[in-house]
Amino acid sequence: MSRPVLIDTDPGCDDAVALLATLEHDALEVVELTTVHGNASVDDTTRNARAILEAVDRTDVPVARGADRPLLVDLDTSEEIHGEGGLRGDLPDPGPATEPGDVHAARRIVEQARAHDGDLALAAIGPLTNVALAHAMEPALPELLDDLLVMGGAAFTSGNVTPLAEANFHSDPHAARRVVRDCEPTIVGLDVTARAAVPPERIAGLTRDAPLGRALSEWLTYYDADRLERYGIDAAAIHDALVLAELIDDGVLETASYPMEVGTDGDLARGALVVDENGVTGDAATGEVAVEADYERYRELMSASLERVLERVGAELSG
Ligand code: RIB
Ligand code: CA
Repeated sequence: MSRPVLIDTDPGCDDAVALLATLEHDALEVVELTTVHGNASVDDTTRNARAILEAVDRTDVPVARGADRPLLVDLDTSEEIHGEGGLRGDLPDPGPATEPGDVHAARRIVEQARAHDGDLALAAIGPLTNVALAHAMEPALPELLDDLLVMGGAAFTSGNVTPLAEANFHSDPHAARRVVRDCEPTIVGLDVTARAAVPPERIAGLTRDAPLGRALSEWLTYYDADRLERYGIDAAAIHDALVLAELIDDGVLETASYPMEVGTDGDLARGALVVDENGVTGDAATGEVAVEADYERYRELMSASLERVLERVGAELSG
């Protein structure tokens, strides 16, 4: 029995890898994608999400467009990392949208949570604006969801936008504060995702002469040499895929409960995930934090799923 999951996403190269692998794995049923500003504008992340679905012949999955800016701070995108329009590679542009697509992503998150009556997992792999808006619409959202996993934050390690802040939390710190405080998330942060690379050489049949294979190869290597050197790694972190790997196989991550808060003001505090590791606040735990990952299990799971999708559509893609 596949587990229903809704993915809130800002594709984005690592989002794209996560989507490809998840759409192909029978442990999960992707009931909808909701898009958000982040790596690029929401128009671009929505186009990218639809292009990815078309590329793997999964236009059965609806896409709902979401927030075009953070709750309070100004929009800040990362096209310098993910490429012009937010996605490297040359996937064909999607055709015209078939579904009306005029219901806001936040509303769709609430509707899907209610429709699945406690069975829905929500994977948030971009800035948390849509999730915060969904919680504002439906304060019972945490009780309506089976699980909320968030790619974001840097609990016990340095950030990737400021020394304290990870990109998704920095993009919309107020939304992150609300979700961390009130939505009982499992935080999958840089503590575990920074080393979550999927080396292309691990993927048998990665045909670089077919559009999907060429695009996947670019997504898996989206970090430039300077960024690899800065982080002391030899392969790009596919941050978002680690969230979906945990939903596919809940032994991938080891988590621990803590009281947590997200900073919102000032250059340093903005987007900082503050974890009360020593319990000095006396506050109750607000969620889980991923503290360890089984990277070999992650890479095996991702590689196998990506090989399947390449085999299924890789050679057939026109263009
Ligand atoms: O910090 C990594 C996160 O920011 C990932 O979700 C990546 O896609 C970007 O959105
Ligand atoms: Ca993302």
